[in-house]
Amino acid sequence: MLPYTKSSNINNLNILSNDETGALSCFNDFELLLFHILKGYDTCASREIIENLQIDKTVVEKFINKLNHEGWMRESRPNNYGGALDAVYVIVSELCNYNCKYCYIQPKINKRNQVTSYIETSIFAKIVEKVANFNPNAQILVTGGEPLLHPEFLKLIEILENRKLNFQVLTNGSKINDEIADKLSACNYLKNVQVSLDGTNDETNEITRGDTFAETVSGVDTLHKYNVPFTIAPTIHDGNVHLFQEMMLYSVDKGGGYTPNNYRKISDSDGSISLDYKKFMEILIDSENNLSHKQRNRLSTRNSQSIITLQSTRNLFCCGTGKSTLNIDMKGNVFPCHLLHETMFLLGNVIEESFASIICNPVLNDIRVHTYDIDECSDCHFMSICGGGCKAAVYKKYGRFDKPDPECSALKYGYELIFTGFPK
Ligand SMILES: C[S@@+](CC[C@H](N)C(=O)[O-])C[C@H]1O[C@@H](n2cnc3c(N)ncnc32)[C@H](O)[C@@H]1O
Ligand code: SF4
Ligand code: SF4
Repeated sequence: MLPYTKSSNINNLNILSNDETGALSCFNDFELLLFHILKGYDTCASREIIENLQIDKTVVEKFINKLNHEGWMRESRPNNYGGALDAVYVIVSELCNYNCKYCYIQPKINKRNQVTSYIETSIFAKIVEKVANFNPNAQILVTGGEPLLHPEFLKLIEILENRKLNFQVLTNGSKINDEIADKLSACNYLKNVQVSLDGTNDETNEITRGDTFAETVSGVDTLHKYNVPFTIAPTIHDGNVHLFQEMMLYSVDKGGGYTPNNYRKISDSDGSISLDYKKFMEILIDSENNLSHKQRNRLSTRNSQSIITLQSTRNLFCCGTGKSTLNIDMKGNVFPCHLLHETMFLLGNVIEESFASIICNPVLNDIRVHTYDIDECSDCHFMSICGGGCKAAVYKKYGRFDKPDPECSALKYGYELIFTGFPK
């Protein structure tokens, strides 16, 4: 067991970490004492001290398991950066019937000739085939624009079902009717329909998504009626962050899960939208702490990774973008993620090239920089769980990738809260 290389005391709790292995723990004073006993001596000496102090054996065993889980028994950093092609986003329509203020894809929609703005079904089929051949356990995320505007949307779903590939649909919910919900309910490989909704009433949803609340809720209710698995996915900004928990309970009440995402400013998005990340972290962590056992179970079985795993994600030394997550446009062009959809980040074309060569494109060398190779991050307790934050946001701010997330201080604050709790 290696010693810690960094320690700090926050709210009377001790955060310890090791740069070489990414081990990270938060101990109370008794645990810190136990840690010192176990780390500093050979097993016999430790056993003797523990016996003399009359510490219960099961307490020691439990503590050793915790140390193991939190990385103290390893000699080096684990090689655990996610599998290749875990999640592949495919844009099937660049058209949209909404005009959300923040939308990162909206500028494109406005520039396009509307007639050619759907993926050709044959191209979609080729993408699906290639993904399934490369990783049969991959998940396809059918997105847009609004994917349900695709004139052959149900055919696209059939292709995924026939190829037995797990998938999700990301939608604004406006086109979900009985026929669509009925077809979706019969799917074996549909894991989730993610419906975007930014509030629990007209006023809050309207700030960003226009006068669309009733239509979207009707789509959600129809999914519920047909027992289709769904999550509600608000994009959190200053105008709805106070409703975070209310929206979560609203989703659970309607029979769904919750997959919130945080607003990210893109150059063309509306300047009136903003997000105070510190406040967001506080509300996020508080809401997660307040979940009942039943709600927690419901949310975790409904694929609500963003909040449920916040406290357990470990060994994430770099962003999975460009390997475990890819984004494919309507011509089969592959990009690392939806926010890095520019020619300079084009990794290849999936119709013409293999995924094996696409995910080795040297463009990714800079993007997938490890946290321990970023000066500021290598000195941070949380480098093994943070991964350095959002690479697209880093690039937009600094024009390079080897810098910490622009919201780094809020992230650090949030991680400290997760580990040590709110000050009493
Ligand atoms: C681009 S939409 C496509 C699918 C569908 N039209 C919908 O609205 O869900 C996918 C998700 O991205 C979110 N989104 C769009 N622009 C964003 C931004 N600038 N920051 C964070 N999320 C954003 C939307 O709110 C939506 O939940
Ligand atoms: S519905 Fe989706 S794609 Fe359409 S403008 Fe809103 S966020 Fe963008
Ligand atoms: S981005 Fe900030 S919080 Fe995250 S690892 Fe780097 S320094 Fe730590």
